[in-house]
Amino acid sequence: MKISVIVVVDQNGAIGLNNGLLCHLPADLKHFKEKTTGKTIIMGRKTYESLPSGALPNRENIVLTSNSDASYGNVKCFDSLEKIFEYCKDKEEVFIIGGGGVYEQTFPYADKLYLTIINHKFPKADTYFPSVNPVEWIETDRKDFNADERNKFDFSFVELERKKV
Ligand SMILES: NC(=O)c1ccc[n+]([C@@H]2O[C@H](COP(=O)([O-])OP(=O)(O)OC[C@H]3O[C@@H](n4cnc5c(N)ncnc54)[C@H](OP(=O)(O)O)[C@@H]3O)[C@@H](O)[C@H]2O)c1
Repeated sequence: MKISVIVVVDQNGAIGLNNGLLCHLPADLKHFKEKTTGKTIIMGRKTYESLPSGALPNRENIVLTSNSDASYGNVKCFDSLEKIFEYCKDKEEVFIIGGGGVYEQTFPYADKLYLTIINHKFPKADTYFPSVNPVEWIETDRKDFNADERNKFDFSFVELERKKV
């Protein structure tokens, strides 16, 4: 099982405020959909609750929550990461999609990182992505984009792979 992490960060590594994203970046939503459609996505309960229409379509949605009675439509719930990884062990690739707490716990196991970097520092944020040690990761792809009428900030899609030791 390949563990991929997908996240949009600002220049400080911030990812969220008040259980929501820092800004609306339609190009990143499209990018996220392209990368994750047809795949298994794993998220924390708070991120699930932040989704406007519940489970994301055309993907297997997995939610991590300590509430073993939790039940949401079109979602599999697990009460530990170990159970999720056991359930997913024969899958080709799974995507960790947040939020902060789940990134923190899973990033040490990640093989691949799909990073969207917004070329801006949001003055207010309450959730951050773990720091990415450049010694451990190699950049394999980067596409830079200028702001336009729909996307208010410059941004980059960056792909990194964990270096083999
Ligand atoms: N920028 C991005 O790409 C991105 C992506 C996703 C989310 N976000 C943002 O991140 C923020 C949410 O992040 P967050 O850290 O507050 O919440 P989160 O990671 O989405 O969810 C946390 C919840 O997950 C459950 N959980 C976490 N670890 C667990 C474990 N080991 N065992 C059992 N349950 C566990 C707990 O649920 P229970 O309390 O039910 O037990 C916990 O309260 C929001 O602002 C969201 O918009 C940003």
